[in-house]
Amino acid sequence: MNHKLTTLLCLMGGLIWLSMPSCKHEPFEVVIAPIDTTTQPVDTTMVDTMGIPCEDNIVYFELQILPILQSNCAFSGCHDVDSAEDGVILESYEYVMQTADVEPFNLDDSEIYEVLVDDDEDEKMPPVTEPPLSSSQVSLIAQWILQGAENLTCDPNAGGCDTEDVSFSQFIQPTIEHNCQGCHSGNPPSGGINLTGYASIREEALNGNLYQVINHQTGYEAMPQGADKLSQCTIDKIASWIDAGAVNN
Ligand code: HEC
Repeated sequence: MNHKLTTLLCLMGGLIWLSMPSCKHEPFEVVIAPIDTTTQPVDTTMVDTMGIPCEDNIVYFELQILPILQSNCAFSGCHDVDSAEDGVILESYEYVMQTADVEPFNLDDSEIYEVLVDDDEDEKMPPVTEPPLSSSQVSLIAQWILQGAENLTCDPNAGGCDTEDVSFSQFIQPTIEHNCQGCHSGNPPSGGINLTGYASIREEALNGNLYQVINHQTGYEAMPQGADKLSQCTIDKIASWIDAGAVNN
């Protein structure tokens, strides 16, 4: 969130003070048009979402869609700002809306969805050499588009964070799937660490690595790489699951 706020402030400042030195790594270097902060719905991320509970039937971009894009698409050589393959940048809501041909409420006209379900191996994304998105990830993206492709936000901690009896199948598995598996699957998985399936996730949980990397402990690689830190509630729930023996519940 801090990073996003900084980026937003930088962007707004940058429109006025193009030479501001602290903005030199901001997206002004790319060739696409600068983001018009007066019409983009960026203000939703600046609103204090503290206390607004998340609803089960709503898809929240930054909480649910962005992590999928960050762990499967928005890295070097593909769709980060520097690589921008095919002009598509999937690092933030603004870039997604500007570069990925999202047509709100319309799956057939949304290129970002079409490439996920394309039968043509040359068109399909991620490329066939990479692990595909899971069907639940594809349907989450579809649901987000059908809901209007908005940048809705909520507070995952509203009403407190329930860390009792955290379930592997209901919580840990989907969290790892959406935030980590894009890199930590396939052959070879990033860092040689495969995080598909209970056995391998349990191994990283019990050897301590899982908690250290998501908690950004010094001496460990911070994960998910290139993305925001997981929410404190998610980290606390994972910690609680590990403390309870990392069981397959
Ligand atoms: C964008 C790709 C990417 C994502 C997403 C990602 N990782 Fe990683 N991960 C890597 C790479 C690359 C390495 C190897 C880092 C290195 O050794 O330089 C790594 C290393 C690790 C390691 C070993 C760290 C160490 O210090 O030895 C663990 C554990 C790990 N990741 C867990 C996770 C978890 C858990 C998530 C999700 C919350 C995650 N990763 C998300 C790319 C990623």
